[in-house]
Amino acid sequence: MPDYASEHRRSIDDPVGFWSEHARALHWYRPFEQVLDTSRSPTGRWFTGGQVNACHEALDRHVESGAGERVALVYDSAMTGAIESITYAQLRAQVAELAGWMQARGIVAGDRVLIYMPVIPEAVVAMLACARLGAIHAVVFGGFGAREVATRIDDTEPRLILAASCGLEPGRVVEYLPLLNQALAQCRHQPQACLILQRPQGPAALTPGRDLDWRREVPGSPPAACVPVDANHPLYVLHTSGTTGRPKGIVRDTAGYLVALRYSMHAVYGVAPGDVFWAASDIGWVVGHSYMVYGPLAHGCTTVLYEGKPVGTPDAAQLWRVAARHGVNVLFTAPTAIRAVKREDPRGELPAAHDLGALRALFLAGERADPDTIAWAQRSLARPVVDHWWQTETGWPVAANCLGLEPLPVKPGSVSVPVPGFDVRVLDEQGLPVAAGGTGSIVLKLPLPPGCLATLWRDHEGFVAAYLTGFTGYYLTGDGGLLDTDGYLHVMGRIDDVINVAGHRLSTGEIEQALASHPDVAECAVIPVADAIKGQVPMGLVVLKVGVTRPQDGLRAELIARVRDDVGPVAAFRDCHIVARLPKTRSGKVLRGTMRRIAAGENPATPATIDDPLVLDELRPTLRRAADSGGG
Ligand code: COA
Ligand code: AMP
Repeated sequence: MPDYASEHRRSIDDPVGFWSEHARALHWYRPFEQVLDTSRSPTGRWFTGGQVNACHEALDRHVESGAGERVALVYDSAMTGAIESITYAQLRAQVAELAGWMQARGIVAGDRVLIYMPVIPEAVVAMLACARLGAIHAVVFGGFGAREVATRIDDTEPRLILAASCGLEPGRVVEYLPLLNQALAQCRHQPQACLILQRPQGPAALTPGRDLDWRREVPGSPPAACVPVDANHPLYVLHTSGTTGRPKGIVRDTAGYLVALRYSMHAVYGVAPGDVFWAASDIGWVVGHSYMVYGPLAHGCTTVLYEGKPVGTPDAAQLWRVAARHGVNVLFTAPTAIRAVKREDPRGELPAAHDLGALRALFLAGERADPDTIAWAQRSLARPVVDHWWQTETGWPVAANCLGLEPLPVKPGSVSVPVPGFDVRVLDEQGLPVAAGGTGSIVLKLPLPPGCLATLWRDHEGFVAAYLTGFTGYYLTGDGGLLDTDGYLHVMGRIDDVINVAGHRLSTGEIEQALASHPDVAECAVIPVADAIKGQVPMGLVVLKVGVTRPQDGLRAELIARVRDDVGPVAAFRDCHIVARLPKTRSGKVLRGTMRRIAAGENPATPATIDDPLVLDELRPTLRRAADSGGG
């Protein structure tokens, strides 16, 4: 096992040598001419001139090397009771068939295809069928509202939409078609067709001339072969929340991503081909893209797709039931899921009722993991619990205790050390390095390793402005934190307006936009407040237009419903206060940061720039109540 320190040093001192070695593991239809090209983008483009195919890496390569009978995917639905195993050969056949159908309808490399599906095998088939043809997929999470879906359609202009008729949430069927219809009614762009997978739990009424029935259309289509694409061809666009109300379309290059994911599977997660890897997430998030689909499959592992929740479907033992039943070697989930389980099983007794003999480690990411939650998991599982840190933009972990390298001592509260490939620094407001132990902005020194975002979809200027201009020569992560004297990274949280609700990344700007669209709202502010299970939940402060005298209860209910419809139920927006005024600076900027700190239980000084200190004083009791009820 290589030692961490020398592996990391080599990756930083000689990135070209380091990554070209790892790139050899891929099947290159055409070899790359240059390992790292920084002439076109300061973040760097990897393996230029080469040609690969992501679906070939995920499926065909294994089938061709004799592993076709290995299980590629296990589907376990706590919602329907279904359990299904699909081998690499079977999955390839399904993917090639759907790709063949798409090809017959004229879909070619570079076309966009929007995927709107729950966690079911066909969602993976859809993603890989796109990759097979070089079509760029844009997966939209099922828990978003119509406006979020519409924004993604207009941004990517898909020729085709692949959707399921419904998703299944505890106690309710989420009908996708009414949401899709509502979204399309708001869109400039219309797709050529929508291919709909009818689920028996909630079949949909199809729109004639637009919607086609997947199960009638696809079977029997001639299988499509893999289409080689350039190394820097976008594999997908995945939108994520930024500091504005408009989500950012993260563009992922194909070859660098595959190289990085394969490296991470063994170096970070310590898994080998044939191991069973379970990322308990959703294909709509980056974790789903990287570690439910492309990472485990490219590495020849079995990936587990779980449709259900960690609690309530029907109990708090589902993580352990699924892990035992399918012999999971490594489990990855969000701390919020463990907090929810811990609440129902505070003594950690449920894991012992399941045979977790195969389980080697639990990885946590997506939000801050509080030390209590980590300690509970360590005690209950008696296995390494690794808190690791990354983001949609990076595509794979930036800091972790790498189990495939010589693991380091664990420091509670830290996400451990920078993963090989990442040069992590902490800078102060002037862009100067902060001494060990001091807090500042967490940045990544350019160029970025393979796998990280290359640009934003059709918005390269926005990409440069959002990530590269804050500190010249560095990528701005948006998180604050510190590197301690042992080189361990401690992530304190976002320094921008991104909030993290039950592991779901949202922007306060998106929620504010929904509130502001209500005809009675003059202005509003949304700030995060602590929540014992979800980590953070949004709180809305709304000022009404002059002359609005409607009863506040009805209005509040309308505002809550509006956020649910526009942004989605995942925003968990329930705490809405109608207030007389918002505190502002003399130049008219709402003091969100100050309110946020009061709601976090701090006692910040009243800013010198405040226009009227009384306004802030009026709000203090509301904000303090949020702080008091938050973490409890
Ligand atoms: N489609 C439609 N609706 C969805 C949805 C989806 N894919 N996912 C969530 N929702 C809805 C839920 O039904 C719920 O609606 P409700 O207000 O009617 O109850 C709402 O969005 C909030 O859902 P959720 O965030 O799942 O919260 P919860 O209170 O139902 O459950 C947890 C709490 C902690 C169990 C749950 O949030 C969880 O498992 N989180 C892990 C998240 C995760 O894996 N993130 C990926 C990063 S690794
Ligand atoms: P996402 O892009 O949805 O993966 O969200 C990324 C953001 O989640 C990061 O910028 C962090 O703010 C937060 N995050 C992810 N993992 C961790 C972690 N292990 N500890 C603290 N924050 C985290």
